[in-house]
Amino acid sequence: MKPLSANLFALLFLCALASVFYVWSALESRLERHKRRFSLPGGGSLHQGLPVDLSAKTFRALLAVPPAQRPRLGARLDAHNLTDQPVPAGSGDLHVNVGKRRAAQREGPVQPGSPVDGGIFWSEWLEDLLPVGFSEEYARAWRQKARTCRVVKLEPGCGRISNQLATFADGTRACVRYGINADQVQGETLTYYLAALLGITNLPPLALSQLSGDGEQWADVRTRIGGLQWSERAVVSLTEWISNLTGVVTPAPLRQDSGGLRPVPAELRNRSTAELLELMQWSDLVVFDYLSANFDRLVSNLFSLQWDSRVMERDTNNLLRTPRGDLVFIDNEAGLVHGFRVLGMWEKYHSSVLNSVCVFRRRTTQRVAELHRRRDSRQRLLELYRDSEPLSQESGFLSDEHAGVLQDRIDRLYKHILHCKGKYGQL
Ligand SMILES: Nc1ncnc2c1ncn2[C@@H]1O[C@H](COP(=O)(O)OP(=O)(O)OP(=O)(O)O)[C@@H](O)[C@H]1O
Ligand SMILES: *[C@@H]1O[C@H](CO)[C@@H](O)[C@H](O)[C@H]1NC(C)=O
Ligand SMILES: *[C@@H]1O[C@H](CO)[C@@H](O)[C@H](O)[C@H]1NC(C)=O
Ligand SMILES: *[C@@H]1O[C@H](CO)[C@@H](O)[C@H](O)[C@H]1NC(C)=O
Ligand SMILES: [Mg+2]
Repeated sequence: MKPLSANLFALLFLCALASVFYVWSALESRLERHKRRFSLPGGGSLHQGLPVDLSAKTFRALLAVPPAQRPRLGARLDAHNLTDQPVPAGSGDLHVNVGKRRAAQREGPVQPGSPVDGGIFWSEWLEDLLPVGFSEEYARAWRQKARTCRVVKLEPGCGRISNQLATFADGTRACVRYGINADQVQGETLTYYLAALLGITNLPPLALSQLSGDGEQWADVRTRIGGLQWSERAVVSLTEWISNLTGVVTPAPLRQDSGGLRPVPAELRNRSTAELLELMQWSDLVVFDYLSANFDRLVSNLFSLQWDSRVMERDTNNLLRTPRGDLVFIDNEAGLVHGFRVLGMWEKYHSSVLNSVCVFRRRTTQRVAELHRRRDSRQRLLELYRDSEPLSQESGFLSDEHAGVLQDRIDRLYKHILHCKGKYGQL
C-alpha cells in the first residue's frame, strides 16, 4: 500500500510539474516571439533600457476594466431586435456587387448620416461600402484547388521555419503550417470554420492536406520535406498567400487608455469613411478573438505593455491589411484549442478587450444571438467542418469540455451585446 501511494504521489507531482511547464512554455514562446519581433539588427534589442520591473501599477492599470453595468430593463425586449432578421449561418453567397460604387465612396468624404444606427450597430451605408473579404464561394473553389494542385516549391516566407511558403504548379502560393503539436493545426482550422459560422470573411481560405496523401501533390518537394524533418503522415494546413499586405496598428479607441469603441456619434462622426470601415472590421475581430480566446493578436499586445510601453504603436500581431483596406486575420492557431487550454492566464485580457467594444456589425450579432438561442455551436461547427473538409476525421474536433467553453463564451458575448443595447439603445 505504502509504495503504491508513494508512486501515485510521485506521479501526481510529475503531472503538476508538467502542467506548470506547459503553461510556462506557452508564455515563454510568446516572450520569445516578442523578443524576435523587437530585436534589432546587430544584436541590439529594444528590451535594453526598458524597465524590467513589471510594476504592479502598470499591471493593474492594464487590467482595469470599468465594472460592467447591468442592462436596463428594456434590454430584454430589445434583444428580440438582435434576432429579428435571422441569417442562416455558414450559408449563402456572400458576394456583394457594389465594388465600383464602393471604391469611389470609400476614398470620399464622410457620408451624411450617422455611422451607427439601432443604438449599437454599424450603419447600413457603411456595411454597403465594405467589400466582402473571401466569400464562401471563393473559398470553396480555392480549397478545391489547394487539395489537388502540385506543390512545386517550399521555401521560407511565412514566418517561423515550421511555416513554409508553398508555390503551386499554377504559380499561386500558400502558407503551409506544420503543427509542432496537434493543437496548432486543429486550432487554426477550427477557428477558420468558426469565422465562417459567424459570417466573418477576413480569413484567407484554408484547406488541410496530408503530406503522404495519395496523388502526387507533394512529390516535387519530398527532399525539402525531409530536410525540414516533417513527418510524412502529418496533416498540414494550407492558407492562401495574399500579396501586398502591410501591417496594421491598433486604432486609438482600442488602445488601453482610451474610452473604448463606443457607438457615440460625437466620437465617430468626424472619422473618415476609411477609418470607419476599418473600425467596423476591428469590431468583428474583437468578437472573433474573444470567442476563440485567441491571445495572439490584440491581447498579447496588451500583455506586452507590461514591459514595452510603446507596443501599441507597432503593428498588431497576425493582422494585415490589403491595399484596398480590408483587414486579413492570419495565424489563428492559438484559437479555440490552445487558447482554451491557457484561458486562466489570459481571460482577464480577453474580457477587458471585449468590454471596450459596444458597436457591432448587425450580421455578426444576429449569428451570435442565434448560436446563443439554439445552444448548438458545437453541432454547427462540427457539421460545417465535416462538410467542408475531407480530412476532418484525421485532425479531430473540440473536446466536449472545450465545446462547452465555446458555447459559454457565445452566451457571455450575447449578454455583453445586450448590455450595450441597454446602455446605448436609446441614443
Ligand atoms: N496568407 C498569407 N499571405 C501573405 N503573407 C502571409 C500570409 N500568412 C503569413 N504571411 C506572412 O508571414 C508572416 C508571418 O506569418 P505568421 O504569423 O503566420 O507566422 P508566425 O510564424 O506566427 O510569425 P510571427 O511569429 O511573426 O507571428 C506574416 O507577418 C506575413 O508577412
Ligand atoms: C426594436 O427596436 C425598435 C427601435 O429600435 C423598437 O421600436 C421596437 O419596439 C423594438 N422591437 C422589439 C421587439 O423589441
Ligand atoms: C501588388 O503590388 C504590385 C506592385 O505595386 C502591383 O504590380 C500588383 O498589381 C499588386 N497586386 C495586387 C494583387 O494588388
Ligand atoms: C474627432 O473627435 C475626437 C473626439 O471628440 C477628437 O478628440 C478629435 O480631435 C477629432 N478629430 C478631428 C480630426 O477633428
Ligand atoms: Mg504569427
